[in-house]
Amino acid sequence: MGRVPAPARLVVLVSGSGTNLQALLDACQDPAYGARVVAVGADRDDIEGLARADRAGVPTFVKRVQDFSTREHWDRAMAETVAAFEPDLVVLAGFMKLVGQEFHDRFGGRVVNTHPALSPSFPGMRGPADALEYGVKITGCTLFVVDDGVDTGPIVAQRAVEVADDDTVESLHERIKGAERGMLVETVGRMAREGYTVEGRAVRFGGAGSSR
Ligand code: GRF
Repeated sequence: MGRVPAPARLVVLVSGSGTNLQALLDACQDPAYGARVVAVGADRDDIEGLARADRAGVPTFVKRVQDFSTREHWDRAMAETVAAFEPDLVVLAGFMKLVGQEFHDRFGGRVVNTHPALSPSFPGMRGPADALEYGVKITGCTLFVVDDGVDTGPIVAQRAVEVADDDTVESLHERIKGAERGMLVETVGRMAREGYTVEGRAVRFGGAGSSR
């Protein structure tokens, strides 16, 4: 009988309601998914994302920027705590902070982030609002490998979402989040099971020399 590979270790960072985290936690219930969430971290207390982790029995940690003398110290503390959980992949799922140099140095190529717009359009914190203001008819979501820019890293997956005439920022963002959860679960699962490579801007699943 062949060896059953150990599930990939995911550390997920959140800042809010954590519905993307929940989708991953649910998917990880199935051993065939090939990954498990070993810790959830946040940059603030008292958020539903942390409560979801608690309910799932997953360890949590909080590092608030204001509790550190500099942004670099915060970044180092975050990186060290994440590293202690020995992640194969770090998933930023609605994490509203940019990670810094220490984080890139330790986990470069193994950090993915989900963004509620079709990159390279509408980077930053206001993806759904900016898409609505611009008047695009199609927007969506993007999963990318984090680099040192704002939502600029190599793209792993995207999903398109139609904009309705009567959309508000909230209704559009909710529809995008539905697509985002499906994209995240499917793509993180593939990264865990098949491995992946990043060459320049090209991200490919499987293959020798995979990042996992
Ligand atoms: C997602 O749309 C994410 O891309 C954005 O914030 C939302 C987080 O939602 N940055 P949740 O916390 O996973 O419910």
